[in-house]
Amino acid sequence: MGDRKVIVFDTTLRDGEQTPGVNFDKETKYKIANKLASLGVDVIEAGFPAASNGDFEAVKYVGENLDGVTVAGLSRCVKSDIDRTYEALKNAKKSRIHLFIATSDIHLKYKLKISRDEALKMAVDSVKYALGKFDEIQFSAEDASRTDWDFLIKVFNEVIDAGAKIINIPDTVGYAVPKEFGRLVEYVKDNIHDRENVTISVHCHNDLGMAVVNSLSAVESGADQVEVTVCGIGERAGNAALEEVIMAINTRKDYFNVIHGINTKEIYSTCKLVSEMAGIELQPNKAIVGFNAFRHTAGIHQHGVINNKATYEIMKPEDIGITTDHISMGKLSGRNAFELKLKNMGFNLSRDEINIAFKRFKDVADNKKVVDDEDIREIVEDVILNSKSFKEGELWG
Ligand code: KIV
Ligand code: ZN
Repeated sequence: MGDRKVIVFDTTLRDGEQTPGVNFDKETKYKIANKLASLGVDVIEAGFPAASNGDFEAVKYVGENLDGVTVAGLSRCVKSDIDRTYEALKNAKKSRIHLFIATSDIHLKYKLKISRDEALKMAVDSVKYALGKFDEIQFSAEDASRTDWDFLIKVFNEVIDAGAKIINIPDTVGYAVPKEFGRLVEYVKDNIHDRENVTISVHCHNDLGMAVVNSLSAVESGADQVEVTVCGIGERAGNAALEEVIMAINTRKDYFNVIHGINTKEIYSTCKLVSEMAGIELQPNKAIVGFNAFRHTAGIHQHGVINNKATYEIMKPEDIGITTDHISMGKLSGRNAFELKLKNMGFNLSRDEINIAFKRFKDVADNKKVVDDEDIREIVEDVILNSKSFKEGELWG
């Protein structure tokens, strides 16, 4: 039996857009959706058609113009939302409605002010009403990780019996911890109807910084689909970051034993595009795509990567589309790194010149955290100029 495929459901354009201060217009959504399609995601959740006319138009546009990828629209379990989602997606190449209703007692009591039975009925009625209008029906039990497990199974089984083919387990408030979340996935897997024909999905938030690790724990426990956003953007502390989940699965293939359809070489440019469009600067130490993710500062580390990159790099930057010489120059950099830097910058200096340049570099580095390529160029050009005039002086003097 081959490796199991994990379906990547990207919600950058829906949950990602719920990041405070972020608003993607139709053109921007289409631009990002195109990039997500080349990245290789399986499903793009393009928005929430009933939320605004702008989002309706954006979902419609993305659905009608993107090939080879399923386009999803979010919908509450009410007829008017389903109708609006249908209008947005009826001409899409491949459509999915993403129905959701909260199932935890705290949400039912204080937010929806309805009983468990009422929520169950709304879920089932909605799936039945959506049937035949979309290529696929996905149902999410919002706040599933804080829902009574038996009630959760009851809801899932009734929506499956009604026709939902994808059931999603959201950790809506980022409350779950990895082992417990994995156990929940197993419980769902063991207790739902028609397991072979139903896709189990997870959707993790990052309130405790565990969105990625909870998603991975779910994959380990048999989840078929992960819901992610590029750079982990999303409501509050955000969602599981696509690039982190994917590179963990790739780097530890020996452990996870699953495959996916992502072309990892597109990761860096996709993250760049999304962060630019969202107006969010990536933190330098962000895993996978942060400015420092493949930079080595300590002399010992630099020496290691010069000899063999695998000493301090578990992934190849080229595999995610990053080109770098791996070397961040500062006061801890050693001579090996300096010489390599000079070589990478195209300088060919004599031994004496290198000695002088290295000493100058160390002086600069003592007063500057990062010595960038421009600083090095200045030092080297100055050294070359001086040694040239020295030679000329020798010759004519
Ligand atoms: O976090 C959440 O519960 C959601 C649902 C709509 C899936 O975003
Ligand atoms: Zn969410």
